[in-house]
Amino acid sequence: MTPALQAVRGMNDVLPDEAELWLHLERVVADWFARWGYRPIRTPLVEPTALFRRAIGEATDIVEKEMYSWRDALSDEALTLRPEGTASCVRAAIEHSLLHDGPKRLWYCGPMYRHERPQKGRYRQFHQFGAEALGYPGPDVDAELIVMCDRLWQELGVAGLRLELNTIGSPEERARYRADLVRYLEANLERLDADARRRLYTNPLRVLDSKNPRVREVLAGAPVLADYLGADSRAHFDGVRSLLDAAGVAYVVNPRLVRGLDYYNLTVFEWVSDALGAQGTVCGGGRYDGLFAQLGGRPAPGAGFAVGCERLIALVRDAGRAPPPPRPDAYVLQQSADGFAQAFLLADELRAAGFRVVQHAGGGSLKSQMKKADASGAWLALIVGEEELARGEVSVKPLRRNAPQVRVPRAETVRRFAQLLQEAKS
Ligand code: HAM
Repeated sequence: MTPALQAVRGMNDVLPDEAELWLHLERVVADWFARWGYRPIRTPLVEPTALFRRAIGEATDIVEKEMYSWRDALSDEALTLRPEGTASCVRAAIEHSLLHDGPKRLWYCGPMYRHERPQKGRYRQFHQFGAEALGYPGPDVDAELIVMCDRLWQELGVAGLRLELNTIGSPEERARYRADLVRYLEANLERLDADARRRLYTNPLRVLDSKNPRVREVLAGAPVLADYLGADSRAHFDGVRSLLDAAGVAYVVNPRLVRGLDYYNLTVFEWVSDALGAQGTVCGGGRYDGLFAQLGGRPAPGAGFAVGCERLIALVRDAGRAPPPPRPDAYVLQQSADGFAQAFLLADELRAAGFRVVQHAGGGSLKSQMKKADASGAWLALIVGEEELARGEVSVKPLRRNAPQVRVPRAETVRRFAQLLQEAKS
């Protein structure tokens, strides 16, 4: 026997029960973005590798070891499956001069690819929806992005997400801090683990992320980035905080929060849940005022976030907030070839009138068709049997309540359907 093939490790099928929840989330999200004035953008899944090397940074986990990269067999271009959406949005904004007539608020949703070790909540193909506010320099937009998320969690009925907030200042402030941090860590080299030692020279700020209790002991005495911030950076952070306070959005300032991508400056934030196990970060974002210039564009400020769909969906499901699967309004049964033709037209007319209608396919007795109708979850069964056909009628049987079956003239079925449906649901 031919062996059956399986999906690639870390890349998941989303089966219908689950896919309906995805669709629900996508609809809520599209509407929510529109209400906040964000417009959709769609960028390719494949980009030049150089885009991510420049944007995310050479010394990050993503660029060092997680990208799906290859050389195109024909053009010899170095290409990569996108690991995130921000770099592509900024590239597209530069390429199409999107900011020529002013700043833009954009959103996107789609699959991203990172070659990580798969575990619960961490996949190799995963999905994000994200917002990028391009061209706005002020703390008001940072606060807007954060408040938006807070309101979405409320709308979806997801509770218990903790907002962690930090500022990582300007590149100059960070450079001075980095030098002192490296000096301090070097003086404590023997107390660092292999990972921290490796990061010490490639990306020393990421040492602050270490989960190792022994490294964290060392970090307790390390210099703190907040002490290196100038007046402008502090004022920006204060601006964000006072708007969050005014909007009633609670947060904890986490001075160790530095994020895993190098393009950030000033505000960074993450929304974290304790209900998801090790992969608890549902959303991450921040400001990236240097990215336009880094990608060869005219300098322009930017800020945004991305939400991990798989993680958010797990929270919606666990909160019992997944809507019930949509039921068909009617399931249409038929006998004989003539009955089929009539039933086919009836179903078509009802759909044109906006109803959800499943027509029985695959033959079988009326009794077996009725079983299928019941299993479909439909509110009503519409029967076009021999007798109905002879009399120009349709039988209508409520399937979800104990009520008698009625006969309706075929010519009036579509007109009367809304009322029949309402009765069946009452
Ligand atoms: P990120 O923190 O790398 O940021 O990813 C954002 C979110 O995507 C994470 O918080 C997590 O929920 C989800 N995520 C990341 N990797 C995986 C994975 N392997 N499996 C499942 N979910 C995952 C960014 O991507 C930035 N582009 C966010 C941003 C937008 N910053 C500014 N604008």
